[in-house]
Amino acid sequence: MKRILIINGPNLNMLGKREPEVYGTETLESIQLWTEKKLGDSAQTCWYQSNIEGEIVGRIQAAAGEDYDALVINPGAYAHTSVAIHDALKILKIPILEVHLSHIYKREEFRHTLLTAKAATAIMTGLGKQSYYIAVRSLLD
Ligand code: DQA
Repeated sequence: MKRILIINGPNLNMLGKREPEVYGTETLESIQLWTEKKLGDSAQTCWYQSNIEGEIVGRIQAAAGEDYDALVINPGAYAHTSVAIHDALKILKIPILEVHLSHIYKREEFRHTLLTAKAATAIMTGLGKQSYYIAVRSLLD
């Protein structure tokens, strides 16, 4: 069975409470449960969330020594600012799919720059909670 690491960045622990008109009303935990149920036995996902840039860098570095088949990452706002997360992603030798729940190109201009995406294999934006499921499925296929 394929093992996929899923990393979520800052404020994604506030899903459900945070700007529901943009991000919907589901919590990260319920999105995780929904995704795991839809994936069934096809993949094993390991979910991690942190609000702290250095912790996310540390988790990515640790993943370089673990046997994940792919990484799905929603870096949250760090996608627009973090050279450190970009550089950590470059260490990994596995496919990386960057996801954003909202359609970032329909939003404020400061969200249009994606530093981390330059280190990702592909990006997906605007598909809401489906993003995680579709990302894992595409990596499996
Ligand atoms: C986000 C988009 C980012 O611009 C924002 O800072 C987030 C969430 C998304 O999933 O749509 O925290 O990554």
